[in-house]
Amino acid sequence: MIPVHLKGRSYLRVNDWSPEELTTVLDLADRLKARHRSGVADRVLEGRTLGMIFTKPSTRTRVSFETGIWQLGGTGLYLSANDLQLGRGETIRDTAVVLSRYLDGIMIRTFDQSDVDGLAEHAEIPVINGLTDSFHPCQALADVMTVRERFGRLEGVRVAYLGDGNNVCHSLMVACAKLGASFVAATPEGYEPEDEVVGWARAAADASGGEVGLTHDRDEAIRNANVLYTDVWTSMGQDEERERRLRDLEPYRIDDRVLRLASGNAIVMHCLPAHYGEEVTEAVLHGSQAAAWDQAENRLHAQKALMALVIA
Ligand code: CP
Ligand code: NVA
Repeated sequence: MIPVHLKGRSYLRVNDWSPEELTTVLDLADRLKARHRSGVADRVLEGRTLGMIFTKPSTRTRVSFETGIWQLGGTGLYLSANDLQLGRGETIRDTAVVLSRYLDGIMIRTFDQSDVDGLAEHAEIPVINGLTDSFHPCQALADVMTVRERFGRLEGVRVAYLGDGNNVCHSLMVACAKLGASFVAATPEGYEPEDEVVGWARAAADASGGEVGLTHDRDEAIRNANVLYTDVWTSMGQDEERERRLRDLEPYRIDDRVLRLASGNAIVMHCLPAHYGEEVTEAVLHGSQAAAWDQAENRLHAQKALMALVIA
């Protein structure tokens, strides 16, 4: 039941995987979700262990990975970086070599993408990026899974991202571009996604028939959008910049008034956690157009598919 061609692969950034490989994850995620809902257990990771290293907090990522591997018959080990020797100066390389002797896969959430890349370089087991300052590729899987679920396709769906063009925006942009969606990021000046990532996304869109746009004009971005997406304005590790960020990003909030500018059947997505009254209002995120709660659930199904594909 589980295709074998992705076994042993790490998932460090969306751009490392082809559209076909990403679609393999999404298709399996849909199947696992349906089977889970009808009470069928798929214990394809019986006896396997995923180590989960965290140097930042998490609700969704931790719980969905831990529950996900358990549902697949395996075990998840929560490893706070402060409790590991990593927090006292043991190298990434030595950590990777040793953990490879015990575990079947590692998920890591940390600051620098280079630490995740270094872990993967030295590990003999698959490494999964559970968020860095630069990327959030597991979030992007759940995001495009949710869009496809709602619209029945990704090709031609218009996704407008409003806010800070950092990790979540980066991964979503590349995923949309690879899978044929039309993506536009509306950010204030100084908050644009990185040029290199925009370049990857534009190359992917050329191949898929998708589109990638950047603008500072919120209204232009949301006109005709099928999806309005936002993320927190102050990401983990940026607390000292909070005042400036609140000022700069204020025009990009999704509230009822902004939602009315979009098409009547547009959905609202958010990776969560939300900071109500900042990037989104509570009324919008708990309103009839919100898809954020399905999106959060889909972290579980998308990551079960990912783990099954790279570990089983
Ligand atoms: N969206 C997301 O990654 O949530 P957590 O920070 O709770 O894991
Ligand atoms: N951009 C946010 C995403 C949280 C899931 C952060 O990095 O804190």
